[in-house]
Amino acid sequence: MHELHLSAQDKAARYREVLPQIAAVIADETDLTANLANTAAVLKEAFGWLWVGFYLAEPSGGELVLAPFQGPLACTRIPYGRGVCGHAWAGEKTIVVPNVDEYPGHIACSSLSRSEIVIPLFSGGRCVGVLDIDDIEYARFDNTDALYLEQLAQMLGVLFAAQKNV
Ligand code: SME
Repeated sequence: MHELHLSAQDKAARYREVLPQIAAVIADETDLTANLANTAAVLKEAFGWLWVGFYLAEPSGGELVLAPFQGPLACTRIPYGRGVCGHAWAGEKTIVVPNVDEYPGHIACSSLSRSEIVIPLFSGGRCVGVLDIDDIEYARFDNTDALYLEQLAQMLGVLFAAQKNV
């Protein structure tokens, strides 16, 4: 399913439906992998993006490693500061990329990807991973996505504190 051209208002409304759904799903489960997997699935179904998933920082801090996702095969490891994901991790800031071909150092996992947004995830004040979303259309992501996905990231951050494997 590929959801086409939601207006800014419709997009905000969709997020306001979806975020409480995710909150409800993860409230009943403490396992991080299970919760990230369901979060990726709910987002993919709701918005129809090409790829939705997580990369988690190795405890040593060297690389991001692929975690639960929905979409085509993806690269498994991203070094600190590399690609959009590595930049968001190092800079601890959301990055919106309207055209991936114009982003220096972009790592192309799928040749179908045209635009991307990466949101850092924080636990205990440090960045422990990122939520990465790609789409086949240019400029698919904007400040509305950043606003709601950062709220989601905050919600997910709480999960990390309870986990021993991160
Ligand atoms: N494009 C990302 C790599 C991950 S894939 O898009 C799933 C990047 O430049 O970091």
